[in-house]
Amino acid sequence: CGIVGYVGTEPAGPIVYGGLENLDYRGYDSAGVALVDQELTVAKQAGEVSELRVPEVANATCGIGHTRWSTHGPPTDANAHPHTSQNGSVAVVHNGIIENYESLKGELLKEGFDFSSDTDTEVIPHLLEQELNDGHDLLSAVDRVVDRLEGSYAIAAVRAGSDRIVATRHESPLVIGHGDDAAFVASDVTAFLEHTRDVTYLEDGDVVSLEAAHATVYHDGDRVDREIETVEWDADAAEKGGYEHYMRKEIHEQPTALRQTLSGRIDLDRGDVDLDLSFPQGYLESLEEIQLVACGTSYYASQYAATLLEEFADVRATVEIASEYEFDGGRDPWRTLVIAVTQSGETADTLGAIRRAAGAGARTLAVTNTLGSTVTRETNDTLFIRAGPEIGVAATKTFASQVTTLALLAVAVGRGRGSLSTADARDVLENVRGLPGAVQQVLDDEARVTEVANECLGSDAFFFVGRRFGYPVALEGALKLKEISYDHAEGFAAGELKHGPLALVTEKTPVLAVLTAGADGSETVNNLAEAQTRGAPAIGVVSDGAETGSLDCALEVPRVGVFEPLVANVYFQLFAYHVANLKDRSIDKPRNLAKSVTVE
Ligand code: G6P
Repeated sequence: CGIVGYVGTEPAGPIVYGGLENLDYRGYDSAGVALVDQELTVAKQAGEVSELRVPEVANATCGIGHTRWSTHGPPTDANAHPHTSQNGSVAVVHNGIIENYESLKGELLKEGFDFSSDTDTEVIPHLLEQELNDGHDLLSAVDRVVDRLEGSYAIAAVRAGSDRIVATRHESPLVIGHGDDAAFVASDVTAFLEHTRDVTYLEDGDVVSLEAAHATVYHDGDRVDREIETVEWDADAAEKGGYEHYMRKEIHEQPTALRQTLSGRIDLDRGDVDLDLSFPQGYLESLEEIQLVACGTSYYASQYAATLLEEFADVRATVEIASEYEFDGGRDPWRTLVIAVTQSGETADTLGAIRRAAGAGARTLAVTNTLGSTVTRETNDTLFIRAGPEIGVAATKTFASQVTTLALLAVAVGRGRGSLSTADARDVLENVRGLPGAVQQVLDDEARVTEVANECLGSDAFFFVGRRFGYPVALEGALKLKEISYDHAEGFAAGELKHGPLALVTEKTPVLAVLTAGADGSETVNNLAEAQTRGAPAIGVVSDGAETGSLDCALEVPRVGVFEPLVANVYFQLFAYHVANLKDRSIDKPRNLAKSVTVE
């Protein structure tokens, strides 16, 4: 989601609206502004920024705005930001997730506060109103309220009758812009780059007060000086966070995306997860089979997930390409759970498959990134992967978040069926919690991947191999490379290499292998050796500290058990990216491909 705020001498409405337009490149589903005069004027609605009409408030020289990309509650006018307090004197925009909002909402309801949205955000203006009623000013009210919030957030708040914005952050970006006679705050410099390039990036726990064009930053109640930097990027580069392509930005967003995926869902004490699903009592115990249907990258994520489901939940789990799927649910179709895995929620093949399943009487579940998408309206339940908007046509962070969300589902099903012990569930969840950090370590190793990509540039073809969880990752690694580099790339089950593909192997066909935990690496090493003796360069992803044998190149992933192949995939994403980049391909929009394919 995007936040923008302005305090200065000009009418705030057009400036805040302009900021929202600048943030709109990611394709949001709702937008709104709050302008400050003796009263607040709020305009907000579901839909694109271009549909929002900002009222003229000539005296308002202070205002905040927001573009929403729904994670809690569908895109509706009521759920759009800003959210206001009971008496309408405070307005708040927020990015992130307030994990303890249900308990805060419970308290506020008891005290007579009414709620008009389904969002977690709405607790914040109400809490602020309470503090203001107790005599605190907006700055100390924000300070006191954030003490009560758990989760990740960037917040900006305004109060009627006061030209001041108070903003703060915790695990969600926020940046201040210093203009002539003006101060800005935003989640992303793109919002105000046309007005100023002098910026200060806030740190977690910073609280900033923007008043009469001055920005004062506080931390733990004390004033602090934060560095002012000059942004050199043009608007196009700024939209990509300084990266040359959305794809690389999105690869690097994976630790954050995974944190969002996991946020508030893991209960390590109980060894369980909270996914807010409405399975009827006894449903999981009586379940006979889980069928996953999907296309493209989502299909490979589903393959990974099917093995997780069989392993953790002791249930038959099958995967089918959506366009090939016919439901065969036996005598009691309801005992088959059919899961549509689709980032966009709009893929026609996947919608067709889920309709066939629902029509035959199966219970259905959507696993998607997109609130309000068609698949969410046609299934019994929905589980959001919360990866944030993905613009690059080649899916990257959504794959990681899909597998991770489905891993949580596998734990839920395993616990529900009594097939996963508390201790085993805790082990799994510990590994899942290690994913954001593990992925970050791979990202920190990007320079090596660039070197390897460079060395491989003259190759005729690329083969990716893996076993167990390494197999879908090999398929996904090859898909990524062919999508964006246009090189010939194939993924194989490692054991199959010798049954045919080996005939294609030469010194000009690098073989990339997943050799980590969860991928039976010690067996795959032998298959790799067969290719190596035919001259093929062998590039292996191994567990941290493992034997690397005679590999031409060993790339290491931190130890996270059966999730190591998922982390290895980040190396493959970086490899595909750098090969394509060195060849100067159209990375974000590869030829002939579309992000979302809405025809069968
Ligand atoms: C298109 C995209 C792929 C994607 C597939 C499924 O073909 O180019 O990257 O994996 O659709 O998309 P979905 O939105 O259903 O996950």
